[in-house]
Amino acid sequence: SDIEKGTYPHYMLKEIDEQPAVMRKIIQAYQNEAGELSIDADILEAINASDRLYIIAAGTSYHAGLVGKEYFEKITKKPVEVHISSEFGYNMPILSEKPLFVFISQSGETADSRQVLVKIKEMGHKALTVTNVQGSTLSREADFTLLLHAGPEIAVASTKAYVAQIAVLAVAATVAAKHAGHDVEFDLIKELGIVANAVQAMVDSKEAIEAIAKDFLATTRNAFFIGRNVDFFVSLEGALKLKEISYIQAEGFAGGELKHGTIALIEDGTPVFALVTQKPVALNIRGNVKEVVARGAKPCIISMEGMEEDGDTLVIPNVHSLLTPLVSVIPLQLISYYAALHRDCDVDKPRNLAKSVTVE
Ligand code: G6P
Repeated sequence: SDIEKGTYPHYMLKEIDEQPAVMRKIIQAYQNEAGELSIDADILEAINASDRLYIIAAGTSYHAGLVGKEYFEKITKKPVEVHISSEFGYNMPILSEKPLFVFISQSGETADSRQVLVKIKEMGHKALTVTNVQGSTLSREADFTLLLHAGPEIAVASTKAYVAQIAVLAVAATVAAKHAGHDVEFDLIKELGIVANAVQAMVDSKEAIEAIAKDFLATTRNAFFIGRNVDFFVSLEGALKLKEISYIQAEGFAGGELKHGTIALIEDGTPVFALVTQKPVALNIRGNVKEVVARGAKPCIISMEGMEEDGDTLVIPNVHSLLTPLVSVIPLQLISYYAALHRDCDVDKPRNLAKSVTVE
């Protein structure tokens, strides 16, 4: 069944491997009889009637929300703010006139997010929950729900839910854009199909990725992840994954911020993972790599086909520039998995962490 490990040593590895199927499942689940992407008319109307979306989430779901903002702003032309749930309660921004709240939560049970939902409902606002668990608290208490269709996620470190969240947000943004009369210049069904194949190619590259994990992370005490634009958001997720299961101190940040502090931490052999999937900033991020290498860093460059250069460590297949997080995160998940494995950590049940945090 879905919740058994089968021949897998860990749920995390099984769930990483399920990601191509999750992509295909989402394409299928959000298609209507005419073969077009569709979501409930009520949700479309709520999105398009609002003047601003407020995405509220925690942990990995927050990182997916950062990518979701790109989709709603670039595709749907809708202003978006993304907030950490635990901060929102006492640090509430001045709200727009017609806000729509979008809660992103794998479990649908995170207490910090629920607290915000209760509060904004009291204020009379509408909420959409994007969750993997039908009937969860956040789903029941919101006005609308979009399901992730990722199947049960058991490993504490979230993998397939993250890609499902990003894919479902892309679907919602695209369908809402068409509903609002905006031109959408790509065929998302086709592009997500290309993504599913690219994700498959990455999960099939386990040997190469395990070798990277051994080479870069076997003994290090820290590691850095850098990127620009959406690569920055994926860097945050890559660092979180590594912290969660391998206990290596890791930080993800925007390439341009290096010089404002973090570069002081670079020593001989410090691993720096750099993502290069965004053409307009490729030269800038490669410049950042040169800066850290000049200070002794050991760079692991993960670039996208079409942008690769000699010496890059890993090249991911080419996908639409907005959808690269769905593919670039896969090697980062696997690098964390193998780093934890080789450091004898309990991959599925890391110390001090819970799968869903139902206390504030
Ligand atoms: C916990 C989990 C994380 C998850 C976060 C938010 O900290 O360990 O993997 O990202 O909660 O969970 P949610 O279910 O709301 O997405």
